[in-house]
Amino acid sequence: MSFTVAIDGPAAAGKGTVSRAVAAHFGFAHLDTGLLYRAVGAKVMEGADAVEAAQALMAEDLEGDLRAPGVAQAASRVAVDPQVRAALVDFQRAFAARAGGAVLDGRDIGTVICPEAQAKLFVTASAEVRAGRRYRELCEAGHEVTPEAVLADVKERDARDSERATAPLKPAGDAVVIDTSEMSIDEAVAAAIAVVAEKRGDR
Ligand code: DC
Repeated sequence: MSFTVAIDGPAAAGKGTVSRAVAAHFGFAHLDTGLLYRAVGAKVMEGADAVEAAQALMAEDLEGDLRAPGVAQAASRVAVDPQVRAALVDFQRAFAARAGGAVLDGRDIGTVICPEAQAKLFVTASAEVRAGRRYRELCEAGHEVTPEAVLADVKERDARDSERATAPLKPAGDAVVIDTSEMSIDEAVAAAIAVVAEKRGDR
């Protein structure tokens, strides 16, 4: 039987960490759907057409350094195009339906991709907290960035992702919101696991 956990939220809110931990805890598969848009964004940076790149996307395109700030912005730009989004729907829904359970994280999982998901979370934090976390991550990965540039990047993506016409970033009506601004990673993970356990009817 399939059990789908939809985890949405803005850039750098901790969705990735929470999603991986929830998947590991319940033995579910995990798909970071941002990687699909990042892979398309990276192809566009190399000169490809966004819609064609999305339609031809393959597993090996998801490898490589898709974490760079330039790729994130390119991803957010291609994600505005309804044809790009449409090309990625079937893959995400097939992943969600796999036996044994699945966690998908992104912007529109609970609202558009899996409106029937059994558990929906919206993981968020203030823009300042998210930018601070992303700044440290990027520095550790060896990227040369400034805190100001990372904050501006986060705010620009927030605005573009939430204001677009197709599948904008927003919590599903039935999503449980977890604001991680003042939580440790362990606290955020525990809160998410508790929500999923409750929806599964675990005791
Ligand atoms: O989650 P992320 O930061 O890797 O996502 C990169 C961009 O991709 C994000 O700014 C918007 C887009 N995206 C989207 O539109 N829908 C998703 N389900 C996931 C990502």
